[in-house]
Amino acid sequence: MMTHPASVFVIVFTAINVLACLWLMWWTARTPAPSAGPKTGHVWDGDLEEYNNPLPLWWLGLFIVTVLFGAAYLVFYPGLGNFAGLGQWSSIERYEVQMAQQRERFEQRIAPLRDKSLRELAADPGAMSTAKNLFGAHCSTCHGSDARGARGFPNLADSDWLWGGEETSVYETIANGRHGVMPPLGAVLGDTGVNEVASYVLSLSGRQAPADWIASGKERFAMLCTACHGAEARGNPSLGAPNLTDGTWLHGGDFDTVRATITNGRDNQMPAHAASLGDGKVRLLAAYVLSLSAEHEPTAAVAHVTSDGDAR
Ligand code: HEC
Ligand code: HEC
Repeated sequence: MMTHPASVFVIVFTAINVLACLWLMWWTARTPAPSAGPKTGHVWDGDLEEYNNPLPLWWLGLFIVTVLFGAAYLVFYPGLGNFAGLGQWSSIERYEVQMAQQRERFEQRIAPLRDKSLRELAADPGAMSTAKNLFGAHCSTCHGSDARGARGFPNLADSDWLWGGEETSVYETIANGRHGVMPPLGAVLGDTGVNEVASYVLSLSGRQAPADWIASGKERFAMLCTACHGAEARGNPSLGAPNLTDGTWLHGGDFDTVRATITNGRDNQMPAHAASLGDGKVRLLAAYVLSLSAEHEPTAAVAHVTSDGDAR
């Protein structure tokens, strides 16, 4: 937005320019139109001279009309500094109206799909090709064009879910977003405590760690972690707490990363898309995500962050 002084400057500068144009026209039109009036004094090729005739009236009239049009434009449309114009026209509003019309048209186009369940949509190749484009435009920046995610961004093409893989959960996730919060527990546990509980966590997916650390880690886990991750550490989709036993890691499964997660916590956000995309697109995208994971047997879930480096 223009500052107030800048706005005043633009208004005054524009007004002076318009007035200067009007004055110039008046000044040039002042002299009556003689067919052979005064000469400019320029001479070419010895005898070619130039008359100094005013503009023809019709031409001058056009100029005046242009200036009047410009003045009216500046009164009705934004153009004079911060003045919004009497017509209250704004490019942002125009953009929003067009976007709304666009969305309306899209919703109409996919109206026949309205009555289908997400699973049915997932099996509809036409709908899924539209959905794939939507995914590329709105989701791939975070989840990758193949939907396989990256560190901190879940793989959507496996059958491992933070927030649940039922139709309603996936729809909810995309429409309203999700906020996964793992609290920082380094201060509560201390260095040794973190090492112990991290060893226990790694042992859950069959990794090596010192037996005494695993044993005391298990007790600490029961005290501090089961409320969210569950007694069996299999996670809790209502909190977005991941299953810690399946070898699939969101933030990484090496000893140091697990220690960092426990010490500093994690704060991870999936943005809501209901307002920006509208219901029809969210349904298509939910169906698309379901179609990707349907290609995988539950047991075929592959760790998307490969883990190496066991504890110590
Ligand atoms: C700005 C980055 C970002 C964008 C854009 C984004 N996501 Fe996400 N998404 C995330 C993050 C981060 C999470 C994990 C949240 C958590 O840790 O609980 C997530 C989680 C999800 C989940 C839940 C996965 C599970 O295991 O439960 C689904 C489904 C999902 N996103 C689908 C989508 C779709 C579809 C789009 C496009 C409309 C999209 N996301 C766009 C960042 C993003
Ligand atoms: C208040 C609930 C809560 C408590 C208590 C909690 N966690 Fe978590 N934890 C979460 C959530 C939610 C996430 C997922 C964070 C995200 O979406 O990025 C998570 C993520 C993790 C991860 C990362 C998993 C991955 O795939 O990268 C590890 C490891 C973990 N927690 C271990 C623990 C341990 C060990 C404790 C106890 C010392 C604990 N958590 C206590 C909620 C909790």
